[in-house]
Amino acid sequence: MLGMHVKEFCGSWMDHPFFRSSFVLSNPKDVQTIRASSIREVWIDSSKGLDVPDNVAAVSRQQIDREIDEALDSISPANLAEAPVSIEREMARAARICTQAKQAVVQMFQEARMGNAVDRGGALLLVEDISDSVSRNPYALISMARIKNADDYTYMHSVAVCAMMVALGRQLGLDDAQTQSAGMAGLLHDLGKSVMPPQILNKPGKLTEAEFAVMKSHPIQGHAMLLRSETHDPVSLDVCLHHHERVDGSGYPKGLKGDEISLLAKMGAVCDVYDAITSNRPYKEGWDPAESLRKMAEWSKGHFDLAIFQAFVKSIGIYPVGSLVLMKSGRIGVVTEQTGKSLTTPKVKLFFSTKSSMRIPAMTVDLSNPHTVDRIEGREDPAKWNFPDLHELWSGIEGLGR
Ligand code: C2E
Ligand code: SIN
Ligand code: SIN
Ligand code: FE
Repeated sequence: MLGMHVKEFCGSWMDHPFFRSSFVLSNPKDVQTIRASSIREVWIDSSKGLDVPDNVAAVSRQQIDREIDEALDSISPANLAEAPVSIEREMARAARICTQAKQAVVQMFQEARMGNAVDRGGALLLVEDISDSVSRNPYALISMARIKNADDYTYMHSVAVCAMMVALGRQLGLDDAQTQSAGMAGLLHDLGKSVMPPQILNKPGKLTEAEFAVMKSHPIQGHAMLLRSETHDPVSLDVCLHHHERVDGSGYPKGLKGDEISLLAKMGAVCDVYDAITSNRPYKEGWDPAESLRKMAEWSKGHFDLAIFQAFVKSIGIYPVGSLVLMKSGRIGVVTEQTGKSLTTPKVKLFFSTKSSMRIPAMTVDLSNPHTVDRIEGREDPAKWNFPDLHELWSGIEGLGR
């Protein structure tokens, strides 16, 4: 039954010992177990609601939403570490790294387009800068790199996925060398887009079937370019070729299933989609980060490896930095920092009162502080409000996103 499936979704998600301890994804049996339970979990996807017989259609969309939110909320914060450098301090540096890295990626794509090899040394320095920033504070660069305009999407997307692969690699307990490989793979995963026709890549609307067929060649193209260049890191090759595979076998280019897809490629899939849907792209406005995670939780059955998605949520929070939230008090705020104590009690900058429908002097509250009375009521859709200074409020960087 639909309702029962939702229950199992929450139950299996919370109760499975796998999620309580650190991740050892090398054991296929564990992954198998998780995947087996996850199949029941996410069949509640509302897009499948139409297939459900009438007698179980009584479970409302809101109820399903609430249960997904509860499942997200239940993720144990055990691995959420206190960052050594405050996000305020890291933010300006992260902005600088973003700008430099983006320019370097522009150049890398240009060289690739001309048939030249990827400058591996330059790329390594970039990955090092990015992963150093993520070590100082994992949330600064990741939230900063989300802010894009449609024209620079593909370049900043490479930077963002690099940073998230590093954070997720650490979360999954990869060693330093593997984490660096993961970051490099993130940086290079969409290299094939450099040879996609610009009128398709930058098309402001939905692609035709023929255009999408062209786009779907970008993993193979990117892989071929890396093969031709000196960058033979097998991890980069693998992620480049397989980041659009899905665990249910419906992805491309090979339609690989489950364990046929490597850990790193499955990590790439999660980071890629999260950054894509939270970004302004030529064909779509970005969604709120917390809302995006909720959507991904809905899709996770067919598309993602559930355990990896879980780890990803742990690495960026349930309300990632920059998420808009409505408080129980009726105030609206934006998440400015993860406190390291719980995924649901970040620091929030309150700046609007829905009671008076007016801006209020911005004030930051730490929801993990036991003396803080106010709590998060739920996500709030930024598109509903269009606060022009939203990105400035959480980042402290003047003009960001304007
Ligand atoms: P991208 O924009 O970087 O998106 C990467 C992946 O994120 C997508 O791979 C898809 O798995 C996921 N994704 C992005 N937006 C959505 C969404 O609204 N809903 C869902 N469920 N998933 C989403 P995909 O679909 O294989 O597309 C690969 C690339 O093809 C995209 O990379 C983009 O460059 C291009 N593309 C896909 N659809 C369109 C479109 O309608 N218009 C344009 N201009 N480009 C598109
Ligand atoms: C960008 O829009 O290029 C990113 C913003 C920044 O890094 O300052
Ligand atoms: C909601 O957005 O409706 C619920 C928010 C939450 O508890 O995560
Ligand atoms: Fe891609």
